[in-house]
Amino acid sequence: WYKPPTPNCAATTNITSESETPMKGLILSGGRGTRLRPITYTSAKQLVPVANKPILFFGIEWMREAGITDIGIIVGDTHAEIKKACGDGSRWGVKITYIHQTEPLGLAHAVGTAQEYLQDSPFVVYLGDNLVKDGISTLVKEFENDRPNAQILLAHVKNPQEFGVAELEGDRIVRLVEKPKEPKSDLALVGVYMFDSTVWEAIASLKPSARGEYEITDAIQYLVTTGYNVRSHIVQGWWKDTGRLEDLLEANRLLLETQERSLNGEMDDASNAQGRVQIGKGTKVVRSQIRGPVVIGENCLIEDAYIGPFTSIQDGAQVVGSEVEHSILLENSKVLHIGGRMEDSLLGKDVEVRRDDRKP
Ligand code: G1P
Repeated sequence: WYKPPTPNCAATTNITSESETPMKGLILSGGRGTRLRPITYTSAKQLVPVANKPILFFGIEWMREAGITDIGIIVGDTHAEIKKACGDGSRWGVKITYIHQTEPLGLAHAVGTAQEYLQDSPFVVYLGDNLVKDGISTLVKEFENDRPNAQILLAHVKNPQEFGVAELEGDRIVRLVEKPKEPKSDLALVGVYMFDSTVWEAIASLKPSARGEYEITDAIQYLVTTGYNVRSHIVQGWWKDTGRLEDLLEANRLLLETQERSLNGEMDDASNAQGRVQIGKGTKVVRSQIRGPVVIGENCLIEDAYIGPFTSIQDGAQVVGSEVEHSILLENSKVLHIGGRMEDSLLGKDVEVRRDDRKP
C-alpha cells in the first residue's frame, strides 16, 4: 500500500541539511467522527466549535504561533466543508495545502498520504479534534533544537484503554500500545507528534492493526524498537480529545473559564449579565439573565431566557422563553418556549427545539 520515497536531490547531495529545512505542519481532519453522531452525519467533527471557535482553528493558530506557516490538512469525506471554513490559510498568515485521504485507513496511512507534500521536512502532526491548552510552541522549539527523530506528548488519563498508551522506564519509552485492553500505565498518547524523515521507514513497515488501521502508535513503536531517538513529554496543562460529547463540553468549559468579559449588542434594563460574559454585535438580550462564563455570538436573540454557565451560543441562534446551561448551540439553532431547562447538550446548525402544543 505504501512505498518508501526515493531520496530527493537535496537530501542526497546534502545541499540543504535536514536541520535547516523549515518545519511543516500536518493536521489530520479526515476522520468520520463516529463517536459524535448524529451531529457528524451533517458536519465535520473538527469544525464543531468550542467557545465559539471551530476546534480545527485552534490547531492552525497554535501551529502559526509556533512559527509553522506551511500547513497540510488531510481531508476525507468532509473535505468541502473544511476547505470552505479554512480557505487558503491567508486569514492566519499561513499557506494551507489540502491532501485527500481516499480511505480512512488510520492515522499512519493519513500521514503516509502526505509524504509527497512533506518530503524531507521535519513536521508536526496534529489531530484535528485535539486541544492542548498551552499550544505547541515550546515543544516545537525543543524538537527543533535537540532534533530527536520523534517527539511524542503524553498525558495522565482515567480511561487509558481508549487511547494509545505508553510504558516508560524512567524517561525511556519501552512500549506503545494502541487501545490496550489491560493498559500498563495511565499515560495516553496526545494527538500531537513530531517527526523527522525516519518516520517514512516506520510507516512503510506497518501492517494493519486489529481494528484494521495503520496506527501511528505502531509507527512510533517501530522507531523505538529500531533504536531511533524518540523523546516523550508529559503535558502539564489540560489536553482534550474532543471525540465524544462529554469531552467537547469539558473543552468548552475549560476555554470559557479563561475568557474576558465583553458586551456588544443590545441589552434592555430588565436583563443582566453576570461575570465573564461575551456578547457579539447585533445580538439582542431582552428580559433575560445571563450567568457567565458564557459566549454569545452575533445576531442572536435571547428573550425571556436564562443562559447559565458554560454555554456557547453561535451566530444567529435564538433562545426564547427557555433556560439553557452547559451546552453548545450551533449557528442559527433555536430553543423556543421549552418551558424548562436544557442542559449538557450540543445542538446542530439550524436545529429547532420547541414545545409542541399537543399532549405528550
Ligand atoms: C488516536 C490515536 C491514539 C491517541 C488519540 C489521541 O485515537 O490512535 O493513540 O491516543 O488519537 O486523541 P483515535 O481518536 O483515532 O481513536
